[in-house]
Amino acid sequence: METPLRLAMAAVFMAALPFLHGQGQAGDLPDTKDKATLQRVCTSCHELDEVLASRRTAIGWQQSVDDMISRGAEGSNQEMEAVVAYLTRYVGKLNVNTASLQQLQDFLGLTEKEAQALVAYRDHGGKIKDFEQLKSVPGLTPEVLQEKRSLIAFTL
Ligand code: HEC
Repeated sequence: METPLRLAMAAVFMAALPFLHGQGQAGDLPDTKDKATLQRVCTSCHELDEVLASRRTAIGWQQSVDDMISRGAEGSNQEMEAVVAYLTRYVGKLNVNTASLQQLQDFLGLTEKEAQALVAYRDHGGKIKDFEQLKSVPGLTPEVLQEKRSLIAFTL
């Protein structure tokens, strides 16, 4: 689905490495215009910390925001897109089974060689089930993956 939102989210993935703050507390997040939007649109029913309690993939955040809209969250499409993009960047996870070469490098900080090794493994061996299997992929460094573990997802 090549909606503008998906393209925007892809651009966000490519823009910068995420902050490795783990489970987010609101204060740790960079203060940008989009954070102000997040605060305005998403804190009328609960605290921001409830929103930041766990990392999600881009699709996970999209579903979460859609869910909140169905519960009554209000904002323009543009604001909701900004919220999804902001959360995906700073409280995001990457699905290593669907991520592009570029996303694996930008979001997880893998080298180009490591990212290629992962994609080659995926192409031949199919879906990676869990972290143990990921660590066994030839060409990847288990210690590096361990550091990024909270940023890695296998579904969605
Ligand atoms: C109209 C009220 C309302 C607004 C506005 C709202 N939420 Fe929620 N949110 C809820 C309710 C109710 C729950 C508790 C749902 C539950 O626990 O089943 C919740 C729970 C959550 C959770 C944790 C539950 C889960 O799915 O894991 C997240 C994450 C979340 N909201 C994100 C957001 C985001 C992002 C926004 C802004 C786009 C937002 N919320 C705005 C009503 C709202």
